[in-house]
Amino acid sequence: MKILFIGDIVGRPGRKIIKKFLPKLKSEFEIDYVIANYENAAHGFGITPKIFNELKNAGIDIFTGGNHTFDRKKDAVLLLNENKILRPLNYFEAPGKWYYEDENIIVISAMGVFSMPYGKNPFIELKNFVENKNKFIFIDFHAEATAEKRVLFHLLKGKAGAIIGTHTHIGTDDLEINEGTCYLTDIGLTGCGDNVIGMDVQGPLVSELTGLKERFDVPDKCKSIMQCLIIESDGRFSKRAFKLKIIDEEIIKTQEVSYGN
Ligand SMILES: [Fe+2]
Ligand SMILES: [Fe+2]
Repeated sequence: MKILFIGDIVGRPGRKIIKKFLPKLKSEFEIDYVIANYENAAHGFGITPKIFNELKNAGIDIFTGGNHTFDRKKDAVLLLNENKILRPLNYFEAPGKWYYEDENIIVISAMGVFSMPYGKNPFIELKNFVENKNKFIFIDFHAEATAEKRVLFHLLKGKAGAIIGTHTHIGTDDLEINEGTCYLTDIGLTGCGDNVIGMDVQGPLVSELTGLKERFDVPDKCKSIMQCLIIESDGRFSKRAFKLKIIDEEIIKTQEVSYGN
């Protein structure tokens, strides 16, 4: 089984590069499941039904969320009725589901604790949930703190198939597979790669200089990047993984790792 994972898709530039390259990557690498994080898909904040359909038609099968899931609450609540779009488990009794399950895979959307909305302790929930599961478990762990991501990896290695970080929008280079669990602290955004975490530099810059809250916008023109991870699984654990970065129309393969025979 082969899985392709895309992290935070930020606005139109992110959607555009996915539409251009995902169909090609899907067929070239014979991908069974495409999973992606939608939390910033609608101009940086949440998702709408129109954008959900656009991304689904581009080839994304299962959608994970984050702290921006409910930014467009009405749209989110409507979409979360669909079983292939998730919200993080941390949101107590909010609408929607935090995991997707079929005969081959369980996909989980979860958030960390530091600087995230108040919610359930994800570590205890996940520790209990993964017990006695006999499928490939993919976890999008949406967290600010790198240490929280490492802790979850050590807590669930040998149990989950993959724990991949999202939310910081900046990719890290620590891909590994240990005890069959594929781990990466953050996969990085798909969208504008040359401003500030996918948003136009102007808003964040004025905000830092003045201490005032500014409007954040996705730039009209920018240098786009697409970042995705391809994982090969034996059905239960990860055997091989590598990252692909697409910059200036060029597909660059990085961080290839393997585990076992
Ligand atoms: Fe994000
Ligand atoms: Fe986030």
